[in-house]
Amino acid sequence: MDLESFGRLFTPEGRKALGAAVELAGADPVVAASSLRKGFDAGLVGAALTQAGLRRRAVVKFGVDAAAMYFTPHGLEQATRVEVAEHRAGRLRAGGLVVGDACCGIGGDLIALVRAGCQVDAVDLDPLTVAVARANVEALGLSAAVRVAGAESLDPGAYDVLFADPARRSSSQRTFDPNAYSPTWPVLMEMVSRARAACLKVAPGIPYEFIPAGADVEWVSFRGEVKEAVLWMDSAAVGGFAAEYPAKRFRDSLERHSDSPENPGSEERFGRRATLLPSGDELVATGTQAVVGAVGRYLYEPDGAAVRAHLVGEVAELVGGRLIDPQIAYLTGDTAAASPWVAGYEVLDVMPFSLKRLRAALRERRVGVATIKKRGSAVDVERLRKDLRLSGDNSIVVILTRIGERPTAILATEMAL
Ligand SMILES: C[S@@+](CC[C@H](N)C(=O)[O-])C[C@H]1O[C@@H](n2cnc3c(N)ncnc32)[C@H](O)[C@@H]1O
Repeated sequence: MDLESFGRLFTPEGRKALGAAVELAGADPVVAASSLRKGFDAGLVGAALTQAGLRRRAVVKFGVDAAAMYFTPHGLEQATRVEVAEHRAGRLRAGGLVVGDACCGIGGDLIALVRAGCQVDAVDLDPLTVAVARANVEALGLSAAVRVAGAESLDPGAYDVLFADPARRSSSQRTFDPNAYSPTWPVLMEMVSRARAACLKVAPGIPYEFIPAGADVEWVSFRGEVKEAVLWMDSAAVGGFAAEYPAKRFRDSLERHSDSPENPGSEERFGRRATLLPSGDELVATGTQAVVGAVGRYLYEPDGAAVRAHLVGEVAELVGGRLIDPQIAYLTGDTAAASPWVAGYEVLDVMPFSLKRLRAALRERRVGVATIKKRGSAVDVERLRKDLRLSGDNSIVVILTRIGERPTAILATEMAL
């Protein structure tokens, strides 16, 4: 889809074509296209069908609004889902704040910010993306300034809050490297250093050493999947950061691991919290450390947001649990505890991991369906599943981990509470 074919969707004929394509959404694509071709030219049919298909896909992220909105495939993929965007924008609900959105995409965050009462000035480098964001603002009856420009062209000092959700490359290796963001991390930090306050949405796996001292960082998960880390920074934090971490440090630090022993206590430089959506449960760092002990009757898997926020000690306190290993984020306990922060399992057996032994144990239990989970294990789960040649009427949870240096398999069932 290019800018011209997108623009045609707003002509009277284009609106008709889109309406007809939406009616046909879900039908066989060839049948839908040939039906539409009776009334519209090929270019318009392509644009309308693409848009109708994207709206269908977008319902998962945007709910009822999707039916009125416009998308690009890439813009939809990168957009923040509505529950997460609204939660974040909710922190700016103070009213009338002027926010600069430095890379607005198709407008997922922009819309939530406007609805939270902010006055938003948004830019994006890509002209088609900007056209789509503008169309969305209008389609939802909102108002915001959206224009084609580089983030770098904004004057961060002109806003109460500078917001940025930089583009990230999707290949997993690079997602963790903030220098591969667009705009890059040094550019973002330079902008943040001129802002009165800033809010940066980043990948949940951001290495801790990139996080400015004094920032308040919130890891957010939605239905058990970690979606983002959000760095909230006010000018005091930003000033401290700029002095402490000149741009060169960013390049050097890429070579090092996030929370390496070289960087002791790095997590104490900033505030850490985790939030579960849609419930809104929140956990804030208290510095509690979990003790380590033998696997008990129950095993608890902390939510990924708490793990990323290094709040496993705090979760252990909530469930009265202990770590099975100092390096592995599995907790264990002897009494059943319910918490939104964990998935709980009742332990059936604990054994040193070996294919032969595990296969025999699952045969004996006549297990036909195994949910295989792992932390701290290098086992290839799909390969293992084939090698186990499961057969039987029962189902089980197999947890692969290591305790000390010992690869371990834990057989369990989901805790019924
Ligand atoms: C992750 S998306 C933003 C998604 C948006 N927050 C939403 O919820 O829909 C990042 C966007 O940044 C834009 N971008 C990348 N580099 C940029 C730059 N230097 N200046 C402005 N926009 C940029 C991309 O075109 C892309 O649309």
